[in-house]
Amino acid sequence: NKTCVKAQVLEHNKIANDVLELILSVPEIAIMTNPGQFVHIRLHDTFDPLLRRPFSIADCNAAKGTLTLIYRVVGRGTAIMTRLKPGDWLDCMGPLGQGFTLNGKRPLLVGGGMGLAPLIMLARTFCSQPATLLMGGRNEQELFWTEIFAGACPNIHITTDDGSVGHRGFTVDLLPELLSAENFDMIYACGPHAMLKGVAEISARHNVPCQVSLEEFMACGVGACLSCTCADSTGGKRHKVCTDGPVFWAGEVAW
Ligand code: FES
Repeated sequence: NKTCVKAQVLEHNKIANDVLELILSVPEIAIMTNPGQFVHIRLHDTFDPLLRRPFSIADCNAAKGTLTLIYRVVGRGTAIMTRLKPGDWLDCMGPLGQGFTLNGKRPLLVGGGMGLAPLIMLARTFCSQPATLLMGGRNEQELFWTEIFAGACPNIHITTDDGSVGHRGFTVDLLPELLSAENFDMIYACGPHAMLKGVAEISARHNVPCQVSLEEFMACGVGACLSCTCADSTGGKRHKVCTDGPVFWAGEVAW
């Protein structure tokens, strides 16, 4: 259930060093989007005819027909994207991939770095049973995320690599304590591979179901190129992250 349409840039804002928020008007996709899905966008000729990139959907407003993408400038492609301005058009294919299964009653969201982006829409869907967020970043410059999540997550636990805010160390350092203190019934995680591996191990030890959103490199985004595969935990096959995921149960993935 996906479509390829023209999307118009409504807003393009810098929200932190090297991090931008792109708000697109694309009602055909917004109406179908579930938390955890992504879009594949292609810029028009004036920018770069070959530029296609997958972006996780950070937020979606079906009533207004908008999608929000939050991205970090990491290379040539995203540097070119920063030139987009309100009124510009791009091609947008989506919503792609399998999103999160929304059956947590006491959800704990765990996000590291840009892995926090796909958790925003997810956090907002838990309105009657607000989610707790455990978030990790490099330093206090990453704290813009707390403002984004503040309305949806009443409890936010923070770790930073340098200890400039919150606990100093890895995001997963705080996880055993949180799982012992509260009866979370579902963990939703997105972030670097090492963090997800740690979350998968700790959640299994504590018997809490866990869904992870993988951030593999993707080229085609639609299951055709095999650039995005990851190993299944049974060893029997490989998953395509773009079409079987990006969200998997933690136990399905060979870490
Ligand atoms: Fe091409 Fe997944 S990105 S198969």
